[in-house]
Amino acid sequence: MNDKIEVLITEEDVRTRIREMAAMLSEKYEGEEVLLIGILNGSVFFMTELAQQMSIPVEIDFMAASSYGAGTESSGNVLITKDLERSLDGKHVIIVEDIVDTGRTLHLLKDLIQMKSPLSVEVAVLLDKPSRRKVSCDADYVGFQIPDEFVVGWGLDYDQKYRDLTFIGIIKQD
Ligand code: IMP
Repeated sequence: MNDKIEVLITEEDVRTRIREMAAMLSEKYEGEEVLLIGILNGSVFFMTELAQQMSIPVEIDFMAASSYGAGTESSGNVLITKDLERSLDGKHVIIVEDIVDTGRTLHLLKDLIQMKSPLSVEVAVLLDKPSRRKVSCDADYVGFQIPDEFVVGWGLDYDQKYRDLTFIGIIKQD
């Protein structure tokens, strides 16, 4: 049961791009109270690298959401399965997510977070598949725009596997 995985973005390119994103965020938020909110499980590898590469101190928290209903793409019915543990008072929030696909998950989570009245909310994603968008949801920081392919690695899974790959790959079915 060995899936064939083709490299789409190399480890070196991913790490270089995350360093660039971390530098942009560090410059913008210098001197501010920043809370990174990672969306579980997909965000953990990107979130860790981003936080470690930022030159300013940040706090972290996590949320988890699962989309329910039939089908292979998120349905728009999103259930919060883990909520935030910290107050957002006086914080600049950066939502950190692995990928924006249809946009439904991020759109909803951003609304929920905004209702808690932090000072500001921005969104950083490692990958963006713009051709798949169903709901308007633009990330403020995008690592890479990719074509409509199912990808794995850096937190992205196929049936819970391959999250730990250090490159972004496409599973080739033969
Ligand atoms: P959205 O609500 O459609 O934007 O769903 C985003 C979620 O779908 C991501 O957080 C991923 O968990 C999952 N997802 C979307 N595209 C891919 C992919 O190519 N590989 C793995 N997971 C994906």
